[in-house]
Amino acid sequence: MPEIMVGAASELADGEHRIVAVGELEVGIFRLGDRFVAYENRCPHHGGPVCQGKLFNGVEEIIMPDQTSRGLRFSKERHVVCPWHGYEFNLDTGRHPGDARVRLRPIPVRVADGGIYIETRG
Ligand code: FES
Repeated sequence: MPEIMVGAASELADGEHRIVAVGELEVGIFRLGDRFVAYENRCPHHGGPVCQGKLFNGVEEIIMPDQTSRGLRFSKERHVVCPWHGYEFNLDTGRHPGDARVRLRPIPVRVADGGIYIETRG
């Protein structure tokens, strides 16, 4: 698959993201620690610019061994929230936390010689 360099890895700090346009394709590139993930900037709900949404840590319920709840807490998972209607997606998996069938389209991304490269699919 053809690749294109879209910037230097050093330009994105941990937790930052950027949107790049490659022809008709818009891609959100996210830095998660030393890793990079990328998704098409198109929400599976109604096509909104999902990668332009806010990032936050997911929320999980604390369930005790007796199945009682001790409330909610932030998890270590990073999520992006679509600015149109609020669907959220786990940035590690691209999936909606409540329905794994609803997911972002991943774009292969890698770092080489300090540059960020994404596959453009021709
Ligand atoms: S278009 Fe993204 S939540 Fe509706």
